[in-house]
Amino acid sequence: MARTLPITDPDALELAIEALRRGDPVAVPTETVYGLAADATNAEAITAIYEAKGRPRFNPLIAHVADIEMAKAQVVFSPLAEKLARAFWPGPLTLVLPLTQSATIHPLATAGLATAAVRMPQGFARDLIAAFGQPLAAPSANRSGRVSPTSAKHVADDLGDGIGLILDGGRCPVGVESTILAVDGTRLQLLRPGGVAVEAIEGIAGMTVERPLRQSGETVIAPGMLASHYAPDTALRLNASIARPGEAVIRYGGVPLKGEQEAKLVMDLSPSGDLREAAANLFDMMKRADAAGAVGIAVGPVPMQGLGEAINDRLSRAAAPRQ
Ligand code: TXA
Ligand code: MG
Repeated sequence: MARTLPITDPDALELAIEALRRGDPVAVPTETVYGLAADATNAEAITAIYEAKGRPRFNPLIAHVADIEMAKAQVVFSPLAEKLARAFWPGPLTLVLPLTQSATIHPLATAGLATAAVRMPQGFARDLIAAFGQPLAAPSANRSGRVSPTSAKHVADDLGDGIGLILDGGRCPVGVESTILAVDGTRLQLLRPGGVAVEAIEGIAGMTVERPLRQSGETVIAPGMLASHYAPDTALRLNASIARPGEAVIRYGGVPLKGEQEAKLVMDLSPSGDLREAAANLFDMMKRADAAGAVGIAVGPVPMQGLGEAINDRLSRAAAPRQ
């Protein structure tokens, strides 16, 4: 069983670094979700991540960096990419950029692609990378295909048996994963909506972000975007206006569902209609609804603007038929 240590513990940083040097993955809080971090340059360490998660190896990992210099050793920044990094880093924006000739990120972490996904997280995770001195590969710290963890307890419940150390930084303030953006010369393509709203990116870039999100034929653009990602065990239906008896209800903006008096459980992502608060609550409420022993999960409508795009994306994946 994993040891859980608060990030405020004086030994937390040192113990994490020792584990990373041994090639052991460590669960660390980021502003988005908890990540399962390991040395991005070490093949055994990356293999250990894939094994702990049960993750298909064709699905590449994000390399987390402490500063832009560390990123530039790995990937090539166009002026547009640099502008976005300077505006949104540290923060929940991941950039997919071409690898440099001298990149040291292991091909297992990039699944052999010519590009790498890089991001600079906020807070403890960034301090840890700076102290470690190398990029950390870190997927969300959940079993592959399951809802991402936004608390140390979520990580322990899902992966506790398979990893050694969980650093507890409390609840993740953003609560959905980073926005993934491919920057191809002067084109911007949204590979995953996330913690930075597309409108904010367009505001800085002064151009439109393309949305090639749907899988076209056999091609999966961001390999992790398989339709049934983020799956709870209990069937979930979207845009519900009526709750059936015995269902768990997840609603938004204080708008009740008809018949919710007979629901097993009623939760509101944000009674005041704040999409940031809703994003921060989303995964915890999905897990609570799933654990309630309900006959199903009914989710009320959530607006599509701002972080609503990421929230609706995760909800529709959770509602998708299982593969
Ligand atoms: O907020 C986040 O991004 C969290 C925290 C821990 O940083 N991490 C995260 O990692 O969500 P993960 O592995 O669950 O999702 C990474 C996604 C996957 O969908 C993967 O396919 C995509 O990034 N990805 C990674 N490298 C890529 C690349 N070179 N091109 C396209 N997609 C890539
Ligand atoms: Mg994930």
